[in-house]
Amino acid sequence: MRALSVSEPWGFDQIKVVEAPDPTPGPGEVLVRMRAVSLNYRDMLMVMGMYGRGSATAPAPITPFSDGCGVVEAVGPGVTRVKPGDRVASLFFQAWNSGPPTLEKLSSALGFPIPGVGRELAVLSQDGVSKVPDFLTDQQVATLPCAALTAWRALFEDGDLKPGDTVVLQGTGGVSIFGLQFAHAAGCRTLITSSSDEKLQRAKALGADELINYREVAEWAKPVREATGGVGTDLIIEVGGGGTIEQSMRAIKIGGHIAIIGVVAGPGSGFNPVGLIGNSAKLQGVSVGSREMFEAMCRAIELHRIQPVVDKVFPWTEVAAAFTAMQGGQHFGKIVLEL
Ligand SMILES: NC(=O)c1ccc[n+]([C@@H]2O[C@H](COP(=O)([O-])OP(=O)(O)OC[C@H]3O[C@@H](n4cnc5c(N)ncnc54)[C@H](OP(=O)(O)O)[C@@H]3O)[C@@H](O)[C@H]2O)c1
Repeated sequence: MRALSVSEPWGFDQIKVVEAPDPTPGPGEVLVRMRAVSLNYRDMLMVMGMYGRGSATAPAPITPFSDGCGVVEAVGPGVTRVKPGDRVASLFFQAWNSGPPTLEKLSSALGFPIPGVGRELAVLSQDGVSKVPDFLTDQQVATLPCAALTAWRALFEDGDLKPGDTVVLQGTGGVSIFGLQFAHAAGCRTLITSSSDEKLQRAKALGADELINYREVAEWAKPVREATGGVGTDLIIEVGGGGTIEQSMRAIKIGGHIAIIGVVAGPGSGFNPVGLIGNSAKLQGVSVGSREMFEAMCRAIELHRIQPVVDKVFPWTEVAAAFTAMQGGQHFGKIVLEL
């Protein structure tokens, strides 16, 4: 079989397609023939050598990608959860079935430290795969394990969102577009920011209620407060990090919930936590989610016939071009590689 492989010197152009022996599933393992994988910001950092470096356990070379869709080709002894022919998604955490996160569960992420699914054949734990809704395409399934589950957990597992609540989504990347689709389906009011008016119109077509261009309106907390009668928003999907947290602190309502997810807006000028005293807001870090959460999310996707947004598709051998597109920020939703 062939697999993607990257090591020092890092970089999109350094990702190679290498030959490797076909793997065999051991006890409790499944052999999956991969059909599609999706790109996450984390994968981009990984192949640039900016993720998880310095760890004594860092595997080199890396096989990137946590998120994939494939078909079970064979199972090892003792496998009961899936059978040959089942279509499955790889799960971001291979050992987080349910319950709260622990160090052990969070140490089982695909791509790093566990070799990822950027390969024709992957052996995964039977706990690390999940069957998926039939109505989704392979490309759509490949978008679910990280971006979709992160948004789902932030909104409904940690955030305790209710119909009629207001949610702010930052930008139109993978996590935020899933957040928009889920919050809209749940009967929430959605406010989305973007650097592009054209992307904002695409978000409107998916149900966004209020649109804010953060390039034109750097202090976007103001329109959020205006749109909520001065109260502020119930929940914010905070993918910007240091560069956006100050505005989020101004936009959140008293007792609201800021889901701390990403870092795309750079480090910013420093975070002053004193505002939290006055507004009693909650800041909660999010790292994807469990298999149980993934299954709950898939039930909702099936019920509401939610269509994950696959914006660009590349052959997997053109992985460098796909990462270049992601780095350029031209995408809306997800970028997928077909195997
Ligand atoms: N904690 C977790 O479990 C978890 C899981 C998934 C992702 N993440 C992290 O979450 C972040 C987003 O991931 P993603 O996969 O959605 O990335 P993505 O698909 O690459 O989307 C990034 C988007 O961020 C938007 N953006 C950039 N600067 C911004 C700013 N100053 N204000 C608001 N939006 C801005 C851009 O939207 P426009 O083009 O519309 O301007 C861009 O398209 C990354 O840092 C990623 O590592 C964390």
